[in-house]
Amino acid sequence: MFFDGLDADVEFGKTFQEREFTFKQGAVLLNHGSFGAVSRRLQEVQRWYLTEMNAQPDLWFRENVYKYWGESLGAAARFFNCDPKDIVFVTNATEGINAVLKSYDFKEGETILSTSLTYGAIALTCRDVAAQNRVIKSEVIEIGFPIESEEAVLRQYEEYLKAHPNTRMVVIDHITSPSAVLLPVKKLAKICHKYGALVMVDGAHAPGHVPVDLEDLCVDFYTGNFHKWIFTPRGCAVLYVNRKHHDWMKPLVTSHCADGSLGEQFFQAGSRDHVPFVCAKYALEFCERIGGMGRIMAYSAELATEAQEYLAKLFQTDRPALPRDMEAPNMKLVELPEIKVPLSKEPSFDFFMNFWRKTNIQTNTFQLQGRVYLRVSPSIYNYMEEYRQLGQAMLDYIQDINNAQ
Ligand SMILES: Cc1ncc(COP(=O)(O)O)c(C=O)c1O
Repeated sequence: MFFDGLDADVEFGKTFQEREFTFKQGAVLLNHGSFGAVSRRLQEVQRWYLTEMNAQPDLWFRENVYKYWGESLGAAARFFNCDPKDIVFVTNATEGINAVLKSYDFKEGETILSTSLTYGAIALTCRDVAAQNRVIKSEVIEIGFPIESEEAVLRQYEEYLKAHPNTRMVVIDHITSPSAVLLPVKKLAKICHKYGALVMVDGAHAPGHVPVDLEDLCVDFYTGNFHKWIFTPRGCAVLYVNRKHHDWMKPLVTSHCADGSLGEQFFQAGSRDHVPFVCAKYALEFCERIGGMGRIMAYSAELATEAQEYLAKLFQTDRPALPRDMEAPNMKLVELPEIKVPLSKEPSFDFFMNFWRKTNIQTNTFQLQGRVYLRVSPSIYNYMEEYRQLGQAMLDYIQDINNAQ
């Protein structure tokens, strides 16, 4: 009933945006990567379940939600090619990673390894876990542009791990943000395991963006958001825990099922809104109904490449130096023309927020290694004309800033 009228050949882009999303009239949304977008159909699913919950809360919390959670988890497990017993819903990727790092019983002298491209909140998590533990350290591998090749990154990890046998937990971003690099997680996991380190993959940006086959990846932990590239309401992510770690893994919140299975413990995290989790099953169905994940990924990736190339030409700048196949398919960077004022702070927040206030165009810009990049991250509701609008508006905006100097 939620998906009536959708078909597998539906044209993505402008009409799709008007029909299937509920953006503010006149707003141009070109920053899907940051917060995703909830499709109109998924908003309806969310409302339907919220209404049911609020109509009879006792029935919902004592019976219905168990069934819905289980069905949704089953759909997520099929999507990730894993056993439903090995995954749980968490509110977001940050929670998933926090739960793993804060559950693990590190021994004195051990280290957590991340990289200079690790997402800021997660880098702080590594730092704080180490600080609270007192006897372990958080270490960082420097990865920066130019990135020569996948092999070069693999070599860098291997050399580090060989020289630092105390590395116990390696946090690897599947797709880095803001630098938008696709890392070879399967190959990296193999190297980490060779040196006795556990692998926590931060796949915040991966589900719905690149294929994720958990059986094939062979990692210890994986977390991925559904609220970025799978159009669910915010607060829907999955945490995978390899079976060998179930006995020590704990949610951040201790509740009634503290002695239960992994699934029971994470399900029962106090009274809360499970509706975003329930929506995961429907979001996957929505994706199927509009032609499947392959079609969705192909549209977004082609538009990302076209937009990046168009903007680089218009700005007379370049993309960062990295192999094409290490660029995230749907997220790509293009350097901005020279801005003659120092931007106030990472990640040039005032710059893109003022641009949005002036133009009604939401985008995202980042400072990396002394350069300022715009990140394109299109989804199926975007289309090239929006990027043409962005390009000209950005040139005018930078010219105004420079002229005011
Ligand atoms: C690599 C990475 N990790 C973690 C996160 C955090 O995601 P969330 O806020 O949904 O926890 C993000 C968000 O963009 C991210 O890009």
